[in-house]
Amino acid sequence: MPQPATRLASVPPYLFAEIDRKKREVIARGVDVISLGIGDPDQPTPRFVIDAMHRAIENPANHQYPDYEGSLAFRQAACQFYARRFGPRFDPATEALALIGSKEGLAHIIWAYVDPGDVVLVPDPGYPVYRTHTRLAGGTPHLLPLRAENGFLPDLDAVPEEVARKAKLLFLNYPNNPTGAVATADFYQKAVNFARKYDILIVSDNAYSEMTYDGYVAPSIFAAEGAREVAVEFWSLSKPFNMTGWRIGFVVGNAAAISALGVIKTNTDSGQFTAVQEAAIAALTSPEAEAFIAEMNETYRRRRDMAVAGLRAIGLDASPMKGSFYLWVPVPAGHTSASFATLLLEQAGVVVTPGSAYGEHGEGYIRISLCVPEERLQEALERMRRFVAV
Ligand code: MLT
Repeated sequence: MPQPATRLASVPPYLFAEIDRKKREVIARGVDVISLGIGDPDQPTPRFVIDAMHRAIENPANHQYPDYEGSLAFRQAACQFYARRFGPRFDPATEALALIGSKEGLAHIIWAYVDPGDVVLVPDPGYPVYRTHTRLAGGTPHLLPLRAENGFLPDLDAVPEEVARKAKLLFLNYPNNPTGAVATADFYQKAVNFARKYDILIVSDNAYSEMTYDGYVAPSIFAAEGAREVAVEFWSLSKPFNMTGWRIGFVVGNAAAISALGVIKTNTDSGQFTAVQEAAIAALTSPEAEAFIAEMNETYRRRRDMAVAGLRAIGLDASPMKGSFYLWVPVPAGHTSASFATLLLEQAGVVVTPGSAYGEHGEGYIRISLCVPEERLQEALERMRRFVAV
């Protein structure tokens, strides 16, 4: 057998696949494991989306190859949603593309832009895909530390001039995974000014825009003046509509960047199943969508408040996040992220994600995702209490 490409040596196993593997080992020992690991909504996809899927799958025309770029109807629905929710109007023909989930699009935009030796500005901690595909494409991730004292926003003024000049892409992700931090419109303006100065494409990963609390409404990068010249924004139906398994998202923004991504995609995949796109249109256009999202956010807010109170009661310094469904919690003294997460799984049967898995600046934290019902969350908190007390 030939050896796999040497570049694979630079790629760690995918974080959540690895967590799944460890979880299965513990379950095989008969432990009732509670997962606060991956951000995978536990509630069902809304009925109005499922009904649309039933109708769509009955149509034989939908069983053939889909349009590469997504059906025009899907792209129109995506652009109308964006205009309604965030303001800017995009042309569905040239400024929007359907994705088989945001993850593939985020990976492929790197392949569309990064030549060996190019620099990509990557938040740390951050979603592992940004870093991993940069390395696979032969680029160099330049890490932008996200620190509590900066509200987990990168300090773009600290990027050395020679690095900024070599950079092709700047990844931003607010509401943020894994920290739950949110961005201000001022920050986005600063980022756009920076990108224009150095001729960098901003890749804004806005997967959590609808999951916000306490009256906060997340903006889009396109709130910033000049953003259309230098930005694309990825949006996913996975989290707001409980559709992680359906694999459907889209990207809007700068037409040249959308076209470059399209070149990679048409040569890689054959588009998302049209029936899934039709169901997604129902999600994006249904009058019931807003109430559904509000109800889900209320569920996550209750879980958040329960978890923050429970964690504080056992001496962990948890702060309520404003966006996403992740709590970013410092580990107790004497532990690393990995040691705490490993022992918690081994000894208490609770899965959390070690912060260090999101990059070196995630060390000292764990990420807790709030994707279990309240009684399971309460049970997990009780197990953590017993674990920390030992
Ligand atoms: C996460 O838990 O970080 C996300 O669910 C991963 C993803 O969106 O692929």
